[in-house]
Amino acid sequence: MKCFFGIIGLVLVTAAVQVRADEGMWLPNRVGKMRLKDMQAKGFRLNASDLYDPGSPSLKDAVVRFGGGCTGEIVSPEGLVLTNHHCGYDYIQSHSSVKNDLLTYGFWAMNREEELPNPGLTVTLLVRMEDVTKKSLKGVTPGMDEAQRQERIRTNNARITEKAVAGTHYKATVEPFYYGNRYFLFVTEVFEDVRLVGAPPSSIGKFGGDTDNWMWPRHTGDFSVFRIYADKDNKPAPYSKDNVPYRPKRFLSVSTRGAEEGDFTLVYGFPGRTTEYVTSDAVDYLLNRGNPHKIALRTLRLNIMAEEQARDAATRIKYASKHASVANAWKKWQGESKGIHRMKTLDRKLEQERRFEAWASRRSRYREVLPTLRKLYAELADYAFARDYYVEAFGAVELARFAGNISKPLDGESDSARLQRIRRGGETFYKNYSDAIDRKTAVAMIREYVRNVPVRFHPQLFREYESRYGSIEAGIKRMFDESALTTRARFDNLLQDAPGRMAAALANDPAVKFYEAFTDLYKNAIGKEYARLTAEINVQYRTYVRGLMEMERGRAFYPDANLTLRVAYGKVAGYEPADAVYYEPFSTLEGIMEKDNPEIYDYDVPEKLRELYRTKNYGRWETGGTVPVGFIATNHTTGGNSGSPVLNGDGELLGLNFDRTWESTMSDVQYDPTVCRNIAVDIRYVLFVIEKVAEAGYLLDEMDIR
Ligand code: ARG
Ligand code: ASP
Repeated sequence: MKCFFGIIGLVLVTAAVQVRADEGMWLPNRVGKMRLKDMQAKGFRLNASDLYDPGSPSLKDAVVRFGGGCTGEIVSPEGLVLTNHHCGYDYIQSHSSVKNDLLTYGFWAMNREEELPNPGLTVTLLVRMEDVTKKSLKGVTPGMDEAQRQERIRTNNARITEKAVAGTHYKATVEPFYYGNRYFLFVTEVFEDVRLVGAPPSSIGKFGGDTDNWMWPRHTGDFSVFRIYADKDNKPAPYSKDNVPYRPKRFLSVSTRGAEEGDFTLVYGFPGRTTEYVTSDAVDYLLNRGNPHKIALRTLRLNIMAEEQARDAATRIKYASKHASVANAWKKWQGESKGIHRMKTLDRKLEQERRFEAWASRRSRYREVLPTLRKLYAELADYAFARDYYVEAFGAVELARFAGNISKPLDGESDSARLQRIRRGGETFYKNYSDAIDRKTAVAMIREYVRNVPVRFHPQLFREYESRYGSIEAGIKRMFDESALTTRARFDNLLQDAPGRMAAALANDPAVKFYEAFTDLYKNAIGKEYARLTAEINVQYRTYVRGLMEMERGRAFYPDANLTLRVAYGKVAGYEPADAVYYEPFSTLEGIMEKDNPEIYDYDVPEKLRELYRTKNYGRWETGGTVPVGFIATNHTTGGNSGSPVLNGDGELLGLNFDRTWESTMSDVQYDPTVCRNIAVDIRYVLFVIEKVAEAGYLLDEMDIR
């Protein structure tokens, strides 16, 4: 009998591994035999040590964290880095002016001298990683309360990181995994001199804009090119004219063979955040409260922006980037809610919780965890809701945010330094500011706040507005009418004042008052409780996830994304987004030309590309009479994976990951193998654009193109 169950168990385990194979973001140093076997069965022709090897060069040495929240890859022995256009966007914009508009027209350094430095931009390479759970938890005992435990872990980790970097220029952190059931050490090398080498015009790099964002079929050439510079010893150094191109331990080779449907793909990158193990209460909040309200608030904002943008061209340009970033999450949340609905994630979670409770009823260690979580989530809900409104409604009032930034001197800041900071702040702020949009937005947002958020989370200021001006709305109007920050002219006047008078004027400014009313409220009435409850919830998850792992021993649990390096593998595949519809996994230049419409901003194909199409001047990038542009695959990815290399079974570069399909944005909560697809720009399109559109083909000479 035992033997029989043993076999069934084994069958189930293998089945489980197979069914879930495309799901997951795995730690590159712990791929494991089973998983490697599965990968190889699907077309991976390398070994685990090709992915990650602390001793000798491996693929991980070619994958970088680009800035704070993107991924990039090194593609030449001279430190050339590819990432997405939307990842380089802010830097490309920072070099742009009306006269020299790199965003619109693109930019290509024709030699090393022309490559543009980007203060503040870093590129981070992983030197090594290590499971340090034992050392992190050393001296932690079951009798400790949570504060003692955390303090102990903090001192342990400080020692671990200190030791890890001793005598080197490396940096190190220890990160919790599985809610603190495990800890990993990451030793990194951070490069600070990263220069812009090239970017296509937005009509290629952002082709399709917000209309196509989160969608397939897609035709965006979402890439930009940078270069890492190092000092003469090949070590990180601040920007200097004397720095030289970084010589990497390893760079990626490029495949021009492309992939066929069903071919193996591997995404290597830095996914930011997923919450795959949360309970039904968390999903319930997201689906039924958080997302609907956040989406509704953003719909209002987007409508106000669009209306004013349609009114005049200057406003359209000023708010292009703001509109895009507000629309990005707005669209994602809608797809996510739809997906969670369709997948019945809530029911599945409830079902899993019933199984867990039955299992836990015989185990004192786990018996209380779900009831406790439920209680905590019930307490959390109103705070989470108020917090969502604080972020989405109050946070949408641009004037208040700007007022907050400049209202107080920073620690130890001199008068003159402060004045400079304020002046520079104003430069950036007014360049892209519309008082009309902001007024309307503020009124709409606060109206929703008043309507939906419980009164105990209303700032005292609302009462003051009512008693002084008759209504909250009238108070907001007064704020815009009277603030010294509402227009550039008033702001310039303010700057003429002596430092003491300026400080006094700012302290009494109605926009500063508005800012302080909300931030104080948040600090005292929302943030503290929110932080306390989420901390307690995370403590419970530590137990819950450990219990889940004990209960489902055969299942491979991948850790939630936390901006650490991960491997996700899958295959090129189309999907059915709806009944009777099938999406092919490849897009081509034909699709770009089908969408071409000079009247529509998002689809206005640059003349140069039209001409290449007319003359079929595709050179070596021609495939089946056209040029491949994008493809989709089943890799499990999330925000932060943008710019990640998509590799074939030989570890060669097939394309750059940049998005997911609308149906798959739910994969942050639950991955659905039938519809979850990541979107990549085909490397052949990238090279075609560099060579044929930009005529910067010399850049290809330093790459290894196979
Ligand atoms: N959806 C992608 C991501 O989450 C790309 C966004 C940039 N493009 C845009 N049209 N807003 O980052
Ligand atoms: N577009 C996302 C990013 O910027 C990727 C995603 O969410 O799929 O990282």
